[in-house]
Amino acid sequence: MSEERYKKSIQLFKRAAKVIPQGIYGHLTPVLAGPMASPYFTAKAKGCRYWDVDGNEYIDFMCAYGPMVLGHNHPEVDAAADKQRKLANTTNHPGEVMVELAELITKLIPMAEWVVFGKNGADMTNHALVIARDYTKKRKIIMANGAYHGTAPWTGSGHNGILPEDRAHILTIDWGDLDGFNRLAEEYRGDIAGAIFTPYHHPTWADQVMPPKGFWEGVRKTCTREGIVLILDDIRAGFRLNLAGSHEYFGFTPDISCYCKAIANGYPLSAMVGNEDLRISASNVFYTGSFWFSAAPMAASVATLTILKRDKAVEKMNKMGELLKTGLEEMAQAHDLEISVTGPAAIPFITFKGGEDFRMNQLFAAESMKRGIFFHPHHNWFLSAAHQKEDIEKSINVADEVFKEVKRVFG
Ligand SMILES: Cc1ncc(COP(=O)(O)O)c(C=O)c1O
Repeated sequence: MSEERYKKSIQLFKRAAKVIPQGIYGHLTPVLAGPMASPYFTAKAKGCRYWDVDGNEYIDFMCAYGPMVLGHNHPEVDAAADKQRKLANTTNHPGEVMVELAELITKLIPMAEWVVFGKNGADMTNHALVIARDYTKKRKIIMANGAYHGTAPWTGSGHNGILPEDRAHILTIDWGDLDGFNRLAEEYRGDIAGAIFTPYHHPTWADQVMPPKGFWEGVRKTCTREGIVLILDDIRAGFRLNLAGSHEYFGFTPDISCYCKAIANGYPLSAMVGNEDLRISASNVFYTGSFWFSAAPMAASVATLTILKRDKAVEKMNKMGELLKTGLEEMAQAHDLEISVTGPAAIPFITFKGGEDFRMNQLFAAESMKRGIFFHPHHNWFLSAAHQKEDIEKSINVADEVFKEVKRVFG
């Protein structure tokens, strides 16, 4: 990738590497995607586009890994946040807007009898486990292999600095394996506090997997029978499949559901909703954070959820996602390449037949990026309500050149 094109990004990264571990850490580290596989720093963003510090423009199919559901710098959301910030943001007490937002969410999501707020998704997944353990007075948690629920030691998403004891009460199944789930429920009967799953499986470096027929129905049935708290981690998919929660999209009812990402169009906020049975445990368990009551992100969330509903944004995103999916499939076929587009239309991902080492994905993403389209090589993508038909058409036209290059290199 051209050093000239990313001159400022590289200079900035060298400065960052001296004062920040890894220069950029976590999932945004260039170490994961490879050097200069993507720009390192953003300068500005608007709608479905952003510009890196070298001034290169991109159509954004990652939406900040999910949060930008209405597009970057949405004027109405920003106005609502600004208005609240000018009144009061982080003070000794929550603002009225916290109650307004909780009321709005309990109206939107039928199973939600109460709501609590935090900042990041992991605040909510961690808290959900504690509530489940308080409610059941049991220890074990069932989760899926390869599922991402944050970076806490129990999640298994990291290795270094983590003790076997941190995961001592975590039991795992392959995502969608109802028989495996039922076997664990029987083997550890009387000791299981909760089960935490994403609404469908969206691992990195792999195709996305929709729930097998009967999976959610079966899990719900077993949880109810065995007194296991069913926790839905809707952090990634929430508000892109159904405003009433992704469980409504898949037709089941969890006991707790966790949200973040799209809830406030980029303002820092997460939320957990729960049913009536869990209200007392949600009150008993102590939890708080320095910024968890800040009012401006809550005002942004009220605006975001209201606009999502008003503008039928979920339908729109999924329609644009369908256009992208069909366009990419047709274009790949025209170049004699076989791709799989998996996941819901608004959260798609592609893999190449014969590209199991992901080098084809990496070339696809790098060549798209050169041409101003930001696709990720090994993480699912996100559509926003700001993506228009012309943006999708432009991206598919670019894919024509990119698939040609992938075919030339890989044959
Ligand atoms: C499904 C899921 N759960 C939990 C998290 C953790 O959220 P956060 O990074 O905001 O702590 C993420 C973040 O990507 C996620 O996708």
